[in-house]
Amino acid sequence: MRRVASTRRCRSVRAAIDRSIAATVTPRAFLPESKLPAAVAWNGDAVAYIDQRLLPFEVRVCRARTADEIAGAIETLAVRGAPCIGVFAAYGIALLRKTITDDSAFSAVAARVRSARPTAVNLAWAVDRVLAAEDMLAEAQTIHREQEAVDAAIARYGLDLIPQDARIITHCNTGPLATGAGGTALGIIIEAHRAGKKPRVFVNETRPLLQGSRLTEWELRGTGVDAVLEADSAAAVAMARERIDLVLVGADRVVRNGDTANKVGTYALAVLASHHGIPFYVAAPRSSFDFSIESGAGIPIEQRGAGEVTSFAGIPVAEPSANVFNPAFDVTPRRLITAFVTEFGIVRPPYQDNIEVLRLSR
Ligand code: MRU
Repeated sequence: MRRVASTRRCRSVRAAIDRSIAATVTPRAFLPESKLPAAVAWNGDAVAYIDQRLLPFEVRVCRARTADEIAGAIETLAVRGAPCIGVFAAYGIALLRKTITDDSAFSAVAARVRSARPTAVNLAWAVDRVLAAEDMLAEAQTIHREQEAVDAAIARYGLDLIPQDARIITHCNTGPLATGAGGTALGIIIEAHRAGKKPRVFVNETRPLLQGSRLTEWELRGTGVDAVLEADSAAAVAMARERIDLVLVGADRVVRNGDTANKVGTYALAVLASHHGIPFYVAAPRSSFDFSIESGAGIPIEQRGAGEVTSFAGIPVAEPSANVFNPAFDVTPRRLITAFVTEFGIVRPPYQDNIEVLRLSR
């Protein structure tokens, strides 16, 4: 695999983030799973993270210390994936509380980190949990440990949904990089692979930022899962001709009636799955459920910059002045979702009732 010079890659990155980039640069693009550094980790005086913008060409561990570096890493998708930004922000808030003694200055930076990305509810959920705790660092560590247990439980429950020799379509990235632990939808697939079910995974590349081709294909390759990369627009023909058994994706926010926000393109995939009579599953921890919102119409959808569509990695792919519509997420209506896989088990329709049961679960 080609390794891209880090200096060129970093040129487009905000200066604050660049300053935080320091530590480990691995010489090889691909590492066996056991040797991968954690997606995020507490390291005493900073929050360490893999800069996911550089993958799969370079595994670089960076350190965020300031509010600009913490919020910036989330805003630029150096750290991404709903549960992962929650864990990262939790450590970040604990760190900022230690370094910012003035209460009103601290409240302002905490609010900035909390709103760095608006759609994934895990971010605000994790920040609020840490802010309410007496020992903020201990709470952040608990959130991180819980995510590991939650992902393992999701993988166990999801295993039952995967038939032998399953052919699965997935979208975006829901593996260890996206949760800071074992992964949600991808965690299930990896579990199925380890259980000898031999899944074959059609990985949507996931335009515009290519989380599928850059991250999911790389993670699946690292664990030995049979992965096939496809352009997002190939999903229909894959369903028509490649004997797809199921679609399995993650979520950024699920609301009370079951409507679900996830990476843009998920809704189109759900419509296609419904047309072809293919089950459509969403794997998500309870921390991705927002019990305060009734339906998908209330979910804030993050709009991102035009440059993400008119260029990639600094290379123009359209006229820079083109008018652009770039929502980072879309909302899949509940009627298109066969079931949710959570750490408390499988949640099936009627969602209004069964998501309430999930809310009350202990
Ligand atoms: O913009 P991203 O890369 O943060 O979007 C991530 C997704 O849409 C994932 O599917 C979602 O966060 C689930 S992560 C387990």
